[in-house]
Amino acid sequence: MLDEKNLHADDASIGSLLCKRQAGHTLPAQLYISQAAYLADCDAIFAKHWIAVGVDCDVEEPGDVIAIEIGTSSIVIVRDDDMNIRAFHNVCLHRGSRLVPPGRSVVGKLVCPYHQWTYDLDGALALAPQMGVDFDRSLHHLKPVALRSIGGILYACLSDEPPDDITHLINKVGPRLAPYDLTNAKVAFETEIIEDGNWKLTMENNRECYHCASNHPELSLSFHSADFGFDPEGLTPTEKDEADALAKAYEEQGKIWETQGLDPTAIEHTVGYPTNFRMQRLIIAGLGESQTMDTRAASAIPLGNMTMSGSGDLHLWGINSWNHIMADHAVIFTAFPMGPGKTLVRTKWLVNKDAVEGEDYDLDHLTAVWKATNAEDANLVALAHQGVSSAGYRPGPYSPFTERALDEFATWYVERMTAHGYAT
Ligand code: FES
Ligand SMILES: [Fe+2]
Repeated sequence: MLDEKNLHADDASIGSLLCKRQAGHTLPAQLYISQAAYLADCDAIFAKHWIAVGVDCDVEEPGDVIAIEIGTSSIVIVRDDDMNIRAFHNVCLHRGSRLVPPGRSVVGKLVCPYHQWTYDLDGALALAPQMGVDFDRSLHHLKPVALRSIGGILYACLSDEPPDDITHLINKVGPRLAPYDLTNAKVAFETEIIEDGNWKLTMENNRECYHCASNHPELSLSFHSADFGFDPEGLTPTEKDEADALAKAYEEQGKIWETQGLDPTAIEHTVGYPTNFRMQRLIIAGLGESQTMDTRAASAIPLGNMTMSGSGDLHLWGINSWNHIMADHAVIFTAFPMGPGKTLVRTKWLVNKDAVEGEDYDLDHLTAVWKATNAEDANLVALAHQGVSSAGYRPGPYSPFTERALDEFATWYVERMTAHGYAT
């Protein structure tokens, strides 16, 4: 049964809950389940930080448009006639109507469905019927949204003062993504699922693999579970041998990656920074090529300048995203809150734009692992949300070995909510 008090937390109680969050533990229930916390997250996190919204190849051609709901807001991303990618608030300058429905469309101009105010792809108001000869259209330009393409992944910030540490993502992650040239990839397949859980539970779930061995038989074929931390005192002799062998493999593979210009070092940019991200390059298990059911490459044409020579899985986590970038394909995930207990997870499988379905890749081979894993994760997130909504829930301890990244994410969350005035 739901605790009624939990469902009606107000801003003041959010503040006191943020202050009470105990290090090393999950958050108080109301921060996951209350409407007030959802609205506070939409404001302080999703409207004030750099949020992953899509990929360059969502809008390949002039006139391609994609509208993305970000919490209670919406943006429209367009490729203009000069091939620039621009983003605007998806709000008409007349009486505020949403301009473009969620998802993809192809347009010549952006036409508001309400009274047909019409905007050029650069946001200029081109037509406003019945407004009189003295009406100055130049004063009604669509409101731009800050947008950056980093290695072909699009990040947007709704704020007029976006955090300037996006330069860390540009300077540190950009060069590592460059060899994959995701700007010249295509979206081979896309799914949207709605998880019945709070977005923070979705993000906690994908930042650990404590749950992988028992829940993800498909993903575990290509993952080394030791990559995600372990208690050295708790290993069986066999597990210890495996962990030692993996450490040795990283030593050797790290040298090879360096000679290939693929930086093997991990990047941590979480607590203390507005723009939260982590990156590491992982050795793929099995035959070592890709996250597929047979661990072989799914696409015969590599991404960008890559070869199929064991470049591993470049793993990138952000505030609302997680990504696996391999030599042959990339899987790009973005998560958006739709309510306290509903989160949209959008997954895109990217391949080289010259790869032809049925010839160079088979869609089932490409998508089987993450389709199955997404369904398994959606179930786990729903179970977690049910649990934190229950009277018996108390914040629980993270494993210091396998859930350090979650503790850091929760610490970062409290820090950012505090920075935006939600702590009392
Ligand atoms: S609200 Fe857009 S034209 Fe009126
Ligand atoms: Fe998972």
